[in-house]
Amino acid sequence: EEPAAALAVPQAPDPRLLLLGRVGTVDPAGLDDYRAHGGYTALRRAFALGPAGVIREVTDSGLLGRGGAAFPTGRKWQATASQPDHPHHLVCNADESEPGTFKDRVLMEGDPYALVEAMTVAAYATGARHGYLYLRGEYPRALVRMEHAITQARARGLLGDDILGQGFSFDVEIRRGAGAYICGEETALFNSIEGFRGEPRSKPPFPVEKGLFGKPTVANNVETLVNVLPILTLGAQAYAAIGTGASTGPKLFCVSGSVARPGIYELPFGATLGELLTLAGVRDGLRAVLLGGAAGGFVRPDELDIPLTFEGTREAGTTLGSGVVMAFDDTVPLPRLLLRIAEFFRDESCGQCVPCRVGTVRQEEALHRIAERTGADAAADITVLREVGRAMRDASICGLGQTAWNAVESAIDRLGAYE
Ligand code: NAI
Ligand code: SF4
Repeated sequence: EEPAAALAVPQAPDPRLLLLGRVGTVDPAGLDDYRAHGGYTALRRAFALGPAGVIREVTDSGLLGRGGAAFPTGRKWQATASQPDHPHHLVCNADESEPGTFKDRVLMEGDPYALVEAMTVAAYATGARHGYLYLRGEYPRALVRMEHAITQARARGLLGDDILGQGFSFDVEIRRGAGAYICGEETALFNSIEGFRGEPRSKPPFPVEKGLFGKPTVANNVETLVNVLPILTLGAQAYAAIGTGASTGPKLFCVSGSVARPGIYELPFGATLGELLTLAGVRDGLRAVLLGGAAGGFVRPDELDIPLTFEGTREAGTTLGSGVVMAFDDTVPLPRLLLRIAEFFRDESCGQCVPCRVGTVRQEEALHRIAERTGADAAADITVLREVGRAMRDASICGLGQTAWNAVESAIDRLGAYE
């Protein structure tokens, strides 16, 4: 594949789009074009503010992690920066594997220098001298574009020693995943980089204290990092005025399924699910919407006024996760869909802990009996599902096992999937 001379599209970026504005309008292989579209303004502002000033801006912006867990980014950066144990590492988690998630792919393919710049800002703020971009193995185009952007940035003094003559040195190395969902869990990801099996570690200690190679590590999702650029160019206050008080800034939503226009949508936090689905052209006969992906939960068509914020979805008893919105119309057989989700978790469990290793198998078996009507009693199988689900949620080591029952539970309780 290219690096891509002819990809620039002669359109002006849409100023309302803080994350996607350059995607489709900037040449992803052109560092000069990136700069002509405002690139490297944020890094210059970062150098003017100093590391503590950058962390203050990110904290004041209210930025919450966009990988799915919504942890405050400023708090994470501050916790790493204040660790006495050196060296510190920066890891960008680009192993985007949640079913229905494809936002980081669009950012990396369409605006790769933005991620290089954002990683440099994060490293400067937190005292990291080496960064890893852990890239999903199934994203070959993102790999080509990120490799090219890193090489060009290095050649032009924007990575490596003494960046922009500021006495700050930082470089980025790409590591590719090999198709395991679990390697997106940050501590499994560290093990993978270190050359071990991709198995999660128990937390605490959190990576900010003891992460990659046992050293303090900032691990951030691609979209989280890219948000740091408008925070620095607009200022924390202007950024925090976007969205709601608790969920600030813009959010990327990955819309797929029974809609006329699937794709990535950038909206300020606070739009309702119904507004987003209207933009995407929801089809007649909507039966259910899955929010947050396989680890998330279903909502009903009469719940489309749920605000798309972390707090709004939580109050509605569901989750925003990484921004997955999958619509299903009434042609989709729910029992088959739930079985497919269960197969996914059974397949992707790393097998390290019993509740998840055994629980995901038992869950799939029960759903199979119900879907194929081979069980004696569907109600008894639902009881099994609840018991197994509770055990997985309470006793699994990591988020995979803890969330493997979420979608099934919500389908039973909210959708009445087997009534
Ligand atoms: P978590 O809540 O354990 O941690 C979130 C982040 O905050 C981590 O970086 C963690 O190190 C940090 N953290 C938490 N407590 C901390 C503390 N006291 N001090 C310092 N740092 C702290 O969640 P986890 O397991 O990292 O992520 C779960 C989420 O991932 C789910 O909500 C799910 O939606 C999402 N997910 C996203 C995928 C994707 O492809 N984007 C794939 C699979 C899951
Ligand atoms: Fe592995 Fe599942 Fe345990 Fe996570 S919960 S450590 S994926 S077995």
